[in-house]
Amino acid sequence: MRFPSGPGTAYGTQYHLEPSTTGDGAIKTEKTESVRTIVLTGISRGIGHEAATSLIRRRPWDHYVLLARGDAEGLAESFAAATGGTHITGVDCDLSSLADITRAATDIVNRLDAGHLPPLGGYLGNAGLVCTTADKHTADGYELTFGVNVLAHYALARHLMRRFTAPAWIVLTTSDCHFGQFRYTLGATPPPRWEAPQRLATPRGDGLQGGARAYATSKLATVYLTHALARRLPPGVDVFSYNPALVAGTGFFRHSPAPLRALLNGFFRLQVAVGRGMTPQRAGLLLTETILAGPAASTGSYLDRGSPVPSSPESYDEDREEELWHEAARLVGLSDDLPEASRAQA
Ligand SMILES: NC(=O)c1ccc[n+]([C@@H]2O[C@H](COP(=O)([O-])OP(=O)(O)OC[C@H]3O[C@@H](n4cnc5c(N)ncnc54)[C@H](OP(=O)(O)O)[C@@H]3O)[C@@H](O)[C@H]2O)c1
Repeated sequence: MRFPSGPGTAYGTQYHLEPSTTGDGAIKTEKTESVRTIVLTGISRGIGHEAATSLIRRRPWDHYVLLARGDAEGLAESFAAATGGTHITGVDCDLSSLADITRAATDIVNRLDAGHLPPLGGYLGNAGLVCTTADKHTADGYELTFGVNVLAHYALARHLMRRFTAPAWIVLTTSDCHFGQFRYTLGATPPPRWEAPQRLATPRGDGLQGGARAYATSKLATVYLTHALARRLPPGVDVFSYNPALVAGTGFFRHSPAPLRALLNGFFRLQVAVGRGMTPQRAGLLLTETILAGPAASTGSYLDRGSPVPSSPESYDEDREEELWHEAARLVGLSDDLPEASRAQA
């Protein structure tokens, strides 16, 4: 199903469909590019690094705000050198710290409101991690996987959601491991186990598979968050969950002990060799192409490598989605909810 943004409207591209006549009498349509601010996370390495590189190369006139921990300005400079982009700003932001997230988001919002940045057109929530155990915690004491993969993107989306100018997009990276079926996980990840968000946010000893299960559950939460956001964003501001599927050669397993890391990286590379996965370059380009193609489906949809398909049956659960929305607000210290009427006000 095509999204009803109107024919000829891709994100950041205005097509003027009123025909005008050229000197030789031919009819042409005008196309102009509008300048947007795009906020990117998870772009220091892996899929996100490749996606950001191709995105900036394809739309060098946009302004990019890179949220990254460590030397975000240095990262911005390296992207500028690699892409030729001239409007790239790095903002230091460790997504495992709510103070960092609030500071970074406030900085962006202030620059948007002051007109120092062009209208907000996109947010890529790609940052994510998997841990071996579920007992690690964020600066605020929340279980690390849930804190970064879910709460950080929730908080950033909440801070930014009234600033988007349609047509605009939010893309949250999820994973097909949220299905919990062997044909998606190849046995590498246990099925998600949904619990009250407060419990999911609590570090816990959860056995040998605790970290991987927390990861699968966080990616189910990403789909829930996408659905809850879709009900609240104004028309023309679309949100999608995006599954890159199996991608070998990223830093995904770097938190695992060396022998396990070698095993998992080898297994992933083997899958790519037999045609079941992708390189980071291919996955990043596909993500960029999906974003730039404009809405391929109605807002809230799950995009499997760019194609809209149903997410898992478990991932359609409005009660859980709303519980997550309200509990996440409490956990990150934001007001409980936006009134439904805010759909039309952003
Ligand atoms: N690889 C796969 O097969 C696969 C499959 C399905 C879904 N995914 C998802 O795709 C996304 C990218 O994964 P990837 O494979 O490219 O992994 P990756 O190479 O490890 O990249 C992860 C990115 O997230 C950032 N990040 C993690 N924790 C952060 C924090 N506390 N603050 C700020 N940034 C943080 C990392 O930044 P640092 O450099 O600072 O750590 C890095 O830029 C993730 O959401 C992942 O769950 C991956």
